[in-house]
Amino acid sequence: MRGLKGKTAVVTGGAQGLGKAIARRLSEEGCIVWSFDLKPDGEDTARRIEQETGNPVYFAQTDIADERQIEAAFRRVAEVSDRLDILVNNAARFILKGIEATSQDWKAILDVNVIGTSLVTQHGLPLLKKAGGGAIVNLSSVSGFVGQSSFATYNATKFAIRGLTKCWAIDLSPFNIRVNSVCPGYIRTEAFENSCVQLGIDPEAEDARISQLHILGRQGTAEEVSGVVAFVASDDASFITGEDLMVDGGYLAK
Ligand SMILES: NC(=O)c1ccc[n+]([C@@H]2O[C@H](COP(=O)([O-])OP(=O)(O)OC[C@H]3O[C@@H](n4cnc5c(N)ncnc54)[C@H](O)[C@@H]3O)[C@@H](O)[C@H]2O)c1
Repeated sequence: MRGLKGKTAVVTGGAQGLGKAIARRLSEEGCIVWSFDLKPDGEDTARRIEQETGNPVYFAQTDIADERQIEAAFRRVAEVSDRLDILVNNAARFILKGIEATSQDWKAILDVNVIGTSLVTQHGLPLLKKAGGGAIVNLSSVSGFVGQSSFATYNATKFAIRGLTKCWAIDLSPFNIRVNSVCPGYIRTEAFENSCVQLGIDPEAEDARISQLHILGRQGTAEEVSGVVAFVASDDASFITGEDLMVDGGYLAK
């Protein structure tokens, strides 16, 4: 893809799942990648990707619910790269509650999925401006378009991500920064397995049920999402901003 080689990218939640696949794909495309994740094993993931691709991958252990940790992580990026071209806001919590959600549930999920995402973007902005522009890619979901039973807390945050995307696309266009959302259907990552535990359901039975919700009759793979993230961050997508890119195997078309 055009315009990715040599660019500096930050991927939040890069230790596993979609974030790991996105970090790997951007690294394969020649980016210098920074992974921000609260899980310390994100360091091992970063080392493995670096060995596979031969391009530098840095890890900053960061809880994006903590503004001081976000600032510290970007200070490290500034010391090494002194610019930022691509920001992928991927980290999220999966607190799956309906009307019974408590104020603690709401605070916990909003602190990461909405406020954390916003503060990462705010603190990444000086480096994006320094680069003369770039691309922000926010991970929303089909859950940002429709209702799903017992998912009110999570879906509210994924709707919010689409709102942030459209507002930021307007506000950041004077700085040559494009902002888009990528909206996957169900992707079988660690989050899927954890959600089944949280909801007390059998993963294989849930996989069969969910697969039928997609026209393609299956869950997607992390690599099917990471390619779209790389595309929308690249110069091949230079006239795309404020947009939601569906990667949902036809989930919403049904
Ligand atoms: N898996 C799916 O089916 C699916 C579908 C649609 C959208 N998405 C979106 O894709 C993104 C990634 O999902 P995933 O399936 O890879 O999830 P995951 O749970 O497998 O991975 C999320 C990563 O984010 C990190 N993280 C969580 N809270 C953090 C915090 N406070 N600070 C820093 N890092 C934190 C975790 O440690 C983990 O490494 C999310 O935004 C999710 O909403 C996922």
